Amino acid sequence: MASARRLLRPPVLGLAAAFFFPAAAAAQTPTLAERIEACGACHGVDGNSPMEKIPSLAGQPELFIANQLILMREGVRPVEAMTPFVKDLKDDTVVALARHYAALQPKPSGEAADPALAARGAEIGKTKRCDSCHLPTLAGSAQIPRIGKQRIDYLIHSLKQFRDSPHPGADTIMSGAVAGLSDADLAALAHYAAAR
Ligand code: HEC
Ligand code: HEC
Repeated sequence: MASARRLLRPPVLGLAAAFFFPAAAAAQTPTLAERIEACGACHGVDGNSPMEKIPSLAGQPELFIANQLILMREGVRPVEAMTPFVKDLKDDTVVALARHYAALQPKPSGEAADPALAARGAEIGKTKRCDSCHLPTLAGSAQIPRIGKQRIDYLIHSLKQFRDSPHPGADTIMSGAVAGLSDADLAALAHYAAAR
């Protein structure tokens, strides 16, 4: 009984607070603009990430962003850094955030790109037919992400994950695309995609 009372208490107090302090209650539900500001601290104010191993979101297909946010919210794609920012996201906010980032202009990250590596990556990409899914521009479409102009360090990190330890929600088709490639091959692919 006592433990049930303890369980019931916080929501009841929450309701009382909402009744007496409507402003405080409102502050608990961030507006879309406040959420975008929070995302921007890591993913960049214009959706182009200035941070190592954090992906840019600018120009990502809306459906891809929405799918990933839902996978992260449900814990299927576990990303510790993102947990506090996705755990209470409502579906309509997920869609609004996805639409916001999809409409922004993707920009190169400014990391040092190696043209020789990029040329080698283009060759590997041709044999692996990356463009058959990610499109010749590498801008992606629908559930297929943009990899063009993505950060090099994030691309390498992500490609290694698909090759070595795909998370539960990861598309197995991608692991197939990079199976058997060396670290040097993955770096070349990353330089190729980032330069597009
Ligand atoms: C504290 C830093 C941080 C904040 C704040 C943050 N993210 Fe992330 N986000 C990350 C990291 C790190 C990853 C990459 C995870 C990985 O390595 O797989 C990521 C990945 C993503 C991805 C997957 C992109 C891809 O190309 O696979 C999306 C979409 C995303 N975040 C959206 C958001 C949105 C929208 C917000 C705000 C509601 C947000 N993030 C806030 C750190 C952050
Ligand atoms: C048969 C279709 C297909 C092919 C071929 C393919 N991809 Fe993908 N790729 C996908 C899909 C679908 C996803 C999204 C995976 C997910 O949701 O788990 C993806 C995700 C990625 C990501 C993660 C991007 C991010 O922002 O999280 C990278 C990087 C990537 N692909 C690079 C490549 C490269 C490089 C090649 C060629 C070697 C390639 N892909 C070939 C379908 C494909």
